[in-house]
Amino acid sequence: VVICLFVPNFRFSIMDCFPHPDASEVSRSRYACCWSPVDEANVPWCFFSKNHGYSVVSESQPDSTHIEARLTRMDAPSLFGADIKELIFYAEMQTENRLRFKITDANQARFEVPHEHVQAPSSPPTGPLKYRLELIQKPFGLKVWRTSPEKLLFDTTIGPLVFADQYLQLSAKLPSHNIYGLGEHVHQTFRHDTNWRTWPIFTRDSFPNGGTHNLYGHYPYFTCLENESGQSFGVFLMNSNAMEVTIQPAPAITYRTIGGVLDFYILVGDTPEAVVDEFTQLIGRPFIPPYWSLGFQLSRWDYGSLDEVKKVVERNRQIGIPYDVQYTDIDYMEDKKIFTYDMEKFKELPQFADYMHGNGNKILIVKRNSHTSQVWPGETVFPDYTNQACVDWWVDEISRFHKEVKHDALWIDMNEVANFVQGSSKGCAENKLNYPPFTPRILDNLIYSKTLCMDAKHKWGNHYDVHSLYGYSMVLATEKYVLTNRSMVFTRSSFPGVGKYAGHWLGDNAANWNDIKWAIPGMLEFNLFGVPYIGADICGFFDDSPEELCRRWMQVGAFYPFSRNHNAQGYKDQDPAAYGADSLLVKTSKHYLNIRYTLLPYLYTLFYKAHVNGETVLRPMMHEFYSDSKTWGVHNQFLWGAHLLITPVLDPGVENVEAYIPDAIWYDFEKERITDRKEKVNLNLPADKLGLHLRGGAILPAQRPDVTTTYSRCHPMRLIIALDDSNAASGELFWDDGESRVISDLFLLDQDVLTMHVTHNGYTDPNNLKFENITVMGVTGAPVSVLVSDGTTTNALTESQVNYDSTRKVKECSIVLYLRNLELELGKNYTVNWQ
Ligand code: GLC
Repeated sequence: VVICLFVPNFRFSIMDCFPHPDASEVSRSRYACCWSPVDEANVPWCFFSKNHGYSVVSESQPDSTHIEARLTRMDAPSLFGADIKELIFYAEMQTENRLRFKITDANQARFEVPHEHVQAPSSPPTGPLKYRLELIQKPFGLKVWRTSPEKLLFDTTIGPLVFADQYLQLSAKLPSHNIYGLGEHVHQTFRHDTNWRTWPIFTRDSFPNGGTHNLYGHYPYFTCLENESGQSFGVFLMNSNAMEVTIQPAPAITYRTIGGVLDFYILVGDTPEAVVDEFTQLIGRPFIPPYWSLGFQLSRWDYGSLDEVKKVVERNRQIGIPYDVQYTDIDYMEDKKIFTYDMEKFKELPQFADYMHGNGNKILIVKRNSHTSQVWPGETVFPDYTNQACVDWWVDEISRFHKEVKHDALWIDMNEVANFVQGSSKGCAENKLNYPPFTPRILDNLIYSKTLCMDAKHKWGNHYDVHSLYGYSMVLATEKYVLTNRSMVFTRSSFPGVGKYAGHWLGDNAANWNDIKWAIPGMLEFNLFGVPYIGADICGFFDDSPEELCRRWMQVGAFYPFSRNHNAQGYKDQDPAAYGADSLLVKTSKHYLNIRYTLLPYLYTLFYKAHVNGETVLRPMMHEFYSDSKTWGVHNQFLWGAHLLITPVLDPGVENVEAYIPDAIWYDFEKERITDRKEKVNLNLPADKLGLHLRGGAILPAQRPDVTTTYSRCHPMRLIIALDDSNAASGELFWDDGESRVISDLFLLDQDVLTMHVTHNGYTDPNNLKFENITVMGVTGAPVSVLVSDGTTTNALTESQVNYDSTRKVKECSIVLYLRNLELELGKNYTVNWQ
């Protein structure tokens, strides 16, 4: 007897039983499914009956932080064959905030991700747990509760567990529709649409052109914001097999993966930021990128020759644009073969590196992969980075090439792994790996499309299991080189944990107004995934970039953590100078890149905080203002850390943007004037402007900009202070010499006293850096005197050092105070006090 529930309101909470194109009324009898057609897009007609699933046969609790149970399959017809009869369920309360549970075959080992970082903590949690686990016996299910206040977070009793050799399904009811993450895809909105959307996950070389298909990275991870209190939790499925995830209106989520085990981590936090902290503790904290890599970068595929690259470098130097890094793409190689360079067109590549370095610039070149198949050079073989012998060979090749061409960083690409033929030049064998009984809704519905055959062997296992780990393993191998050579790496393909070593860009976008928009949710998601060094190709990769689009893109791109203008082969030049030295595009690009360079000490400090505390760098507005539900869906604006709000123009012909200004004091960064709060504000942003607002309470460390970071790092420093509702502010500076010597400074301002407190003083900066200027927005009334003390002596600033315009009010009775020509040495303690 097939037991079906047809309660209208519960329709959406019943899981799609048989995601097969042939599902029909027939499946009801053959598969013990329920069948109920409805006239709404994406709603499944066929869903599980109560007959499917497992039941608990024995349960044990070895100690207070572990639960084990044996499950046995209930008597229901098989969907895809090879059902596993007996399972082991194992739960581990790893920390106060982190629960792990794993379901696997009780009798046979299955593929598990050999993650480099994730491991069980050495000691059990000591404090009270933020969650509670409840095991349901028949049918088997589990409920994860938040303990205070009591709330059901993850409830799998909504649908049965299916566990076959090549089809594993689990569903869970969630407490809210505020779901963020999963990747890599183009999500046109940051907050997920829960109306039956299915997202395939399996690394893939494809264009992020707005489709719902799988892209370069593999991220079975999401954060769920529960409500206005900010309480949130993250869910990570440690599984690298091809899968699809359906988000539905219950709200609920269904995972369907075609291999490996179900290995879940539930991360319970008090805020969405706390969940990022939890997740990056688990998978590895992001690296601190070298300071220069926060500079602006220019790239294109196919400059044609080194002479052409030099012309581009020269014309951009001439316009005086801040610009640190120049790339050469695969065209520098001889016939696109890795570890070679073209002896005709790029003959002087080694000298070019010297020429760039001589001017404080860096150069970056592309590396990629060399079963036989086809990629850029023609016939290609793919190294197995999961094999130590291969890692040694790879590191040696890079070192030897570096002796010839002194590149500064490595760009690893096409590592999804991409292949221009399906599987291999010889095709793929007919077997269950190349033709699994169920294929998730991945692009082309063919598992080896644009990659290797699934039965290709790696040290870690079959390509079927490790495909999505190819980029990850290549990052781990490349890191072996980077570590000893102070280089850096960024990668196109990624898996949770790559952020510990590498950055990422959002791939082969195009010069259109959709792609400039979609980059923002994409970058916000990678901040959730622990990869804060993230950007999109500024001005668009494919297609000619029209002046207006490229101008708006240069403005917003000046605030991408990874800020690179990159162009594809055959399209018009789109480096800023190409639009004319006197163009508006050059003027506005310089203006905002100068602001970026001014604020690099702040951006660098944000990366440090990401590294130490697991904070986001590019921050979603809802991470700071979760109690305001209007921020939950904002994805056209973003923050740098907690304090700088960026509102770009993302549409053609537009000069007025409706911005959301959440509840705080905000100062227009450029006009140094207070703005309206907690409402939609119409910002006038003419052709050369983007919206930039500083939140009251901020102290941002800054530095006079220059055309490279090599130069700007020698310039005087500055503090930019914005007072909050109670006349207070705080901030931090992390500064180092690029090696291991560090200075960190804490700034606190309260009731007209600024304290600059050095918490770590590891070296004296060779540039003898001093804070010369301090700007304070929101000071109440004009000061009579300003005193500076270093703890031993106190001096009053002279009239020429104190500046303000008492007629220019930033709000009712407050002004902007400028302190100038100061000599506050970096690495020393001071107080500055105005009365
Ligand atoms: C890939 C990369 C792109 C690069 C091109 C040529 O498409 O994503 O950035 O320019 O290959 O190397």
